[in-house]
Amino acid sequence: MKPEILVASQMPAPTMRALEENFTLHKLYEAEDQAAFLAGIKDRVRGIATSGGKGASAALMDAVPKTEIIANFGVGYDAVDVGAAKARNIAVTNTPDVLTDDVADLALALLLDAARLVSRADRFVRAGQWLKGNHPLGHAVAGKKLGIVGLGRIGAAIATRAEAFKLQVSWYGPRPKPDVKWPYVADLVALARDVDFLCVICPLTKDTHHLITREVIEALGPEGTLINVARGPVVDEPALVEALKAGKLGHAALDVFEDEPRVPEALLAMDNVVLLPHQGSATIETRTAMGQLVVDNLVAHFAGQPLLTRVA
Ligand code: DGY
Repeated sequence: MKPEILVASQMPAPTMRALEENFTLHKLYEAEDQAAFLAGIKDRVRGIATSGGKGASAALMDAVPKTEIIANFGVGYDAVDVGAAKARNIAVTNTPDVLTDDVADLALALLLDAARLVSRADRFVRAGQWLKGNHPLGHAVAGKKLGIVGLGRIGAAIATRAEAFKLQVSWYGPRPKPDVKWPYVADLVALARDVDFLCVICPLTKDTHHLITREVIEALGPEGTLINVARGPVVDEPALVEALKAGKLGHAALDVFEDEPRVPEALLAMDNVVLLPHQGSATIETRTAMGQLVVDNLVAHFAGQPLLTRVA
């Protein structure tokens, strides 16, 4: 008998196939009446595969109380109520490492786009405006300063790439780290004041919610650029919109939003912002590898083996 798994959010096709080979699946995302659906499988489900969009609340855990493991598709597991999982003795896994390069690449793509006005120039050509004159100039990247908020695996990969573009890197986090070659700045406002680009790549926790305050945003200043490839709620989004409107911040390049997939109307109308639909890990290779980690963790759990990437 295959263990029964609740699949809370749809996963890539290869992941779904691998899940189907190993487990009996219950696809929550296909259910019209999710409460009735969950009631029907209440005592059979022993694992949950989920992702950032759906997560796993305490209520979901209680709806399928025989759950032993939650495998999150994504390195960030802020949408899983880890406290509730621990209290119920449910293991939680995530998908680190396999997405580091892709998220770091996207951070650099956003930085370069904001500086060199790539998306904006593309809109300019498509609108036939080149025939009427030249596009406004962007800014050079080489020789500028980049501050990184959160120097974990992805933050370090961003720093390495940034150096290749001749950016001077410094970083902020809860504490300095030994053996890190980039200078640590303990004061986030001071870091923002000093750099040209501030890239946010820390996890969303209760301590990092709105870590990027109005003061930090305004410290970046009218020539500064804020890049967010972490989670929307790490940035005070209303303050960000106001700063952009008032010219107190130069540019924003955002892959994530406070209430995604909803994006503030005001941002849609601005030419000095780059807006992406949470694309950090969105490559075929990486999403396939993330899905494989979800499957491997579930398989390991039900085979009584150690979990590959346990976070709780
Ligand atoms: C993650 O892994 O947390 C990413 O945001 C998903 O794309």
